[in-house]
Amino acid sequence: MNIEASNTKKNLEAAFAGESMANRKYLFFAKMARQLGDEEVAALFEKTANEETAHAFAHLELIYPSHELTVERLLELAIEGELYETNVMYPQFEQEAIAEGKAEAALEFVEQANESRVHAEIFASAAKRFKALKIVEAFHAGRYQKMLDKKTPQKKAG
Ligand SMILES: [Fe+2]
Ligand SMILES: [Fe+2]
Repeated sequence: MNIEASNTKKNLEAAFAGESMANRKYLFFAKMARQLGDEEVAALFEKTANEETAHAFAHLELIYPSHELTVERLLELAIEGELYETNVMYPQFEQEAIAEGKAEAALEFVEQANESRVHAEIFASAAKRFKALKIVEAFHAGRYQKMLDKKTPQKKAG
């Protein structure tokens, strides 16, 4: 399915966001219900949270078709997302929190911006290792090929 730059793509992203939020919200509600002493409701929230994950994944499968993905691309997408949070989203949220005198929220936005930067760095070093690994593999493949070439019996002239 080609969903590039369509309303459907926007809707899939919105639906993914909604289902993802439901997942985390229900896990949080489960924790709260358990703290409030209702294990049955906690378990119900956890079961439903798992179903919300399946709903979110179904949207993701259409947003990121598996035939378009490589490990490099996954890392690249993750880095883009984390850097957006670090450099664009959280600084803006921090400014707005400061303007509204919400110091606690402003501080939390700064902390989360830093966490996102750390995540981006971890993904970036994984991407570097992945590239290095591919170079090493290509090097070994090349050496192996040379060894094979050497072992090929030389045909005697004449
Ligand atoms: Fe759902
Ligand atoms: Fe993150």
